[in-house]
Amino acid sequence: MELKPLGNTGVMVPEIGLGMWRYTGGVEPLRLGVELGAFLIDTAEIYGTEEVVGQAVRGIRDRVCLATKVSPDHLQYEAVLRAAEGSLRRLDTHYIDLYQIHWPNPYVPIQETMRAMEALVDRGLVRYIGVSNFSVPQLREAQAAMRNYPIVSNQVLYNLNRRQIEADLLPYCLQQGIAVIAYSPLDEGRLATGPWFQPDRRMWALGQVAAYVQKTPAQVALNWCTARPPVIVIPKSNSPARVVENCGASGWRLSQEQIRFLDAVFS
Ligand SMILES: NC(=O)c1ccc[n+]([C@@H]2O[C@H](COP(=O)([O-])OP(=O)(O)OC[C@H]3O[C@@H](n4cnc5c(N)ncnc54)[C@H](OP(=O)(O)O)[C@@H]3O)[C@@H](O)[C@H]2O)c1
Repeated sequence: MELKPLGNTGVMVPEIGLGMWRYTGGVEPLRLGVELGAFLIDTAEIYGTEEVVGQAVRGIRDRVCLATKVSPDHLQYEAVLRAAEGSLRRLDTHYIDLYQIHWPNPYVPIQETMRAMEALVDRGLVRYIGVSNFSVPQLREAQAAMRNYPIVSNQVLYNLNRRQIEADLLPYCLQQGIAVIAYSPLDEGRLATGPWFQPDRRMWALGQVAAYVQKTPAQVALNWCTARPPVIVIPKSNSPARVVENCGASGWRLSQEQIRFLDAVFS
């Protein structure tokens, strides 16, 4: 498994992690993923999956990078602290590696939220602060609100079908040393299930590249994302076989020509 920097922290994380939205697979696929090197697990207080993550990392907590998120309804100072307490309890851990603001909330000043996020770091309950679904202007404002710690990541929608971040957010994060955690990297499964024949020109092209490089279409779709330097992907799967497949999207690279071909077809 290839590692990538978590922003400018000096901490390395796998370029493929494990997503937990709508996850119902139990402990086994998570443990398997961690064994295969996908030791970044991404959950959220609103997913209802923090408990199973806590069970899965029991005994291996120090080998796992646990990422969770505070709901946009809990961004007032005291609410952030309470939300973190709840996540720590459900995750059955003493610290969260990456605590992310799930969505911006225009009704709560970002300065107030970030004061609480920084207080959690000061208390040793959170190691790094991240955001999610922040545009460039929102990210700039959030960065300006930080007093002592940086924003290390922005978790956003990114996959072959959804490339909006390429216009400004991706270059901005690269320039700022902020990791981009790509959610729905398989477009909620659509990029992994075909059909691999014409007249669906895009899926056909993905299938052609996959056949050429002797990987599966899902692996090509994930590798296309991680070919971008700051991008880490967090595919979700309930299935051990698919976790193995998704982890197999790391350790090799599409050629520049294959990436350009997919870029053009999916433009
Ligand atoms: N920050 C946010 O606002 C936000 C929003 C959405 C998602 N996320 C995060 O990103 C993670 C991933 O996104 P996502 O769950 O929306 O979508 P995704 O990872 O793009 O796709 C998940 C879907 O693809 C299927 N799948 C996974 N691997 C496969 C494979 N190799 N072959 C065929 N099908 C496969 C899964 O089914 P099976 O489980 O049956 O394999 C599931 O239905 C989430 O779990 C969550 O952690 C964050």
